[in-house]
Amino acid sequence: MGSYIGISTIFVLCLVGFSANAHEVFNVNAPPGSDITQALLKAFTAACQCTAPSRVVIPKGEFKLCEIIMTGPCKAPIEINLLGTLLADGSNIHHGKDKWVVFRKINGFKLNGGGTFDGEGSAAWRVNNCHKTSNCKKLPISIRFDFVTNAEIRDISSVDSKNFHVNVIGAMNMTFDNVKILAPAESPNTDGIHLGRSDGVSIINSRISTGDDCISVGDGMVNLLVKNVVCGPGHGISIGSLGRYPHEQNVRGIKVINCTVQETDNGLRIKTWPTAACSTVASGIHFEDIILKNVSNPILIDQEYCPWNQCNKQKSSSIKLIDVSFTNIRGTSGNKDAVKLLCSKGYPCENVVVGNINIEYTGRDGPATFMCSNVKPRLVGIQNPKACNTPPVLTQPK
Ligand SMILES: *[C@@H]1O[C@H](CO)[C@@H](O)[C@H](O)[C@H]1NC(C)=O
Ligand SMILES: *[C@@H]1O[C@H](CO)[C@@H](O)[C@H](O)[C@H]1NC(C)=O
Ligand SMILES: *[C@@H]1O[C@H](CO)[C@@H](O)[C@H](O)[C@H]1NC(C)=O
Repeated sequence: MGSYIGISTIFVLCLVGFSANAHEVFNVNAPPGSDITQALLKAFTAACQCTAPSRVVIPKGEFKLCEIIMTGPCKAPIEINLLGTLLADGSNIHHGKDKWVVFRKINGFKLNGGGTFDGEGSAAWRVNNCHKTSNCKKLPISIRFDFVTNAEIRDISSVDSKNFHVNVIGAMNMTFDNVKILAPAESPNTDGIHLGRSDGVSIINSRISTGDDCISVGDGMVNLLVKNVVCGPGHGISIGSLGRYPHEQNVRGIKVINCTVQETDNGLRIKTWPTAACSTVASGIHFEDIILKNVSNPILIDQEYCPWNQCNKQKSSSIKLIDVSFTNIRGTSGNKDAVKLLCSKGYPCENVVVGNINIEYTGRDGPATFMCSNVKPRLVGIQNPKACNTPPVLTQPK
């Protein structure tokens, strides 16, 4: 109470014609432990009005932050330097809010500084049942990027999100570099980075350990590069699920290169719903130079994805997979089903390449298996286990 919270600008006004490279700096000044929501919003709003590039600095220390939506368009590029830690309200789980920090409609955006977004999720995880039913309480996604373009997110951490850590939609030309994402393996629905309906996103040099997919790719994603990422624990790197909703868009150009996947349920996965509500194409999906460490279901195409029996498995998926490759994948599997390529009966996979796979399984129910259905993969180099050595288990009555 009564403590001074405000913003100070080093250059008092930002209307003056500085040279294009000068940065107007807006410091968010607040006592440690205080709620900086209003001060940050004020700083952002002022920076957004600058005609020269500007920077908002959140200092070292811990601060509380309530739901905040930082919306452009801004008059010039904007950078947010997060040096400290932002804490969401851990008890605030009964208000049905579905987002915590939102960056929206900003062109020319940087977020960096080594700081942390702490979603304080542990109380929320206990009430999260959205993976079992769609009639559930919405929990906030920690950081949303909605229609943000030409952006660089660097040296930032997200811990203990209540729901997804990061959600990206409508992005163009966005890079995540040296991002750290951390939540316990048991935390439900805490996807690391979920992306959809975006073009030209890179996730590089990053570390993701969480309770759900490290990276999940939704419909309409084109040109995604994932490189030098270590994933696990978690549910691996996943394209999909696709086909759950009508009006979904095609997925195209996904490259996952030089990544390590460790101690995860699922490694490299493409999943589509059987009774898909739409007919789309997912093409140009390439996984290359991947190390697996004790990964359950390391390589998986699952066109019968139907968690919690929310669909009719009798119908085959109408999502067509074309031009998919798994190349130079090596390491250990946590279960015997090392490779499963289960494609749609109605829309078999086309042009699937499997090159140089060496996956070991040391369990007693071994050896490792490689199942194929509705797909004839083109084989290059060595395959261990031997490709298509096991008939798929029929999951549906004829
Ligand atoms: C992509 O975004 C970065 C960071 O904002 C920028 O430096 C670069 O010029 C952009 N590239 C293109 C092709 O617009
Ligand atoms: C592959 O990724 C690891 C980190 O996971 C990194 O240390 C290494 O330099 C990368 N190699 C190449 C060729 O990019
Ligand atoms: C592999 O992962 C499982 C859990 O999926 C764990 O129980 C087991 O101890 C791990 N094995 C090794 C060798 O780390």
